[in-house]
Amino acid sequence: MSTFKGKVVVVTGGGSGIGQTTALTFAKKGASVVVVDISEKNGLDTVQQIKNINGEAFFVLADVSIPEDVERAVVKTVEKYARLDYACNCAGRGGVQNTVADYDIDIWNKVIAVDLTGTFLCMKYELKQMVKQGDGGAIVNIASVKGLVGDAKSSPYTSAKHGVIGLTKEAAIEYGKTGIRINAVCPGWIGTPLVMNYVGTEESPIYQKAASLHPMGRLGKPSEVANTVVWLCSDEASFITGSAVVVDGGYIAW
Ligand SMILES: NC(=O)c1ccc[n+]([C@@H]2O[C@H](COP(=O)([O-])OP(=O)(O)OC[C@H]3O[C@@H](n4cnc5c(N)ncnc54)[C@H](O)[C@@H]3O)[C@@H](O)[C@H]2O)c1
Repeated sequence: MSTFKGKVVVVTGGGSGIGQTTALTFAKKGASVVVVDISEKNGLDTVQQIKNINGEAFFVLADVSIPEDVERAVVKTVEKYARLDYACNCAGRGGVQNTVADYDIDIWNKVIAVDLTGTFLCMKYELKQMVKQGDGGAIVNIASVKGLVGDAKSSPYTSAKHGVIGLTKEAAIEYGKTGIRINAVCPGWIGTPLVMNYVGTEESPIYQKAASLHPMGRLGKPSEVANTVVWLCSDEASFITGSAVVVDGGYIAW
């Protein structure tokens, strides 16, 4: 696959799970990585892991639901590395489990603010910079299989992730001629530390139930999503834009 030497990538939600693995994967391929997260401790941990493999990275504390924070993250990226080539908009959160009629409005607003508006804000400032540079780029938004099919009791998350796919297509059309490619990735259940804490070991009944939702009979690995993100940013994916690439072990194939 193409080298990313001399390239600059922003990874939001880079302090944990899929975002952390994505940040490390880009760094291993030679990119300078800007880790953006609401958790300073986790973000700095990712930067340290990158430095440990002789990679280049720095951390920006920012909440993707706050426009000024996102704008500052892009400004700091350009101050440090003079450009922005790629972005993986991965920061996300869930809500609580409840039916629509009983869903708490404050929790609805918080999930939409981070998962949908946050993705919009990231693209807004990333695109401004990429367009200014005038030499293309690539953005990958992390959606979910719940951006393609419904579930029960997670209406704001499912709505936000459907919205992320719509937003991805919208931007891909608007910026197609600039050479900036914009795609979404839709993971099934991925065994991030948080998810593994919840489902337990592979022998546990909760893991088995989650695994049974996927025809491949297991949860995905963070690296399986990260590799897809990096590939979508690479020259090997040069004619792919506006796509929602599913990384789900067959979850939506039933
Ligand atoms: N793990 C899965 O099974 C799975 C499946 C489908 C989609 N996803 C999506 O992948 C993305 C990453 O999920 P994960 O499982 O790695 O989660 P995670 O909780 O391990 O990591 C999410 C990161 O985002 C950060 N974050 C949260 N809110 C933020 C904000 N407002 N501003 C900046 N950073 C913020 C957190 O601090 C954390 O470091 C999310 O968008 C999630 O919806 C995950």
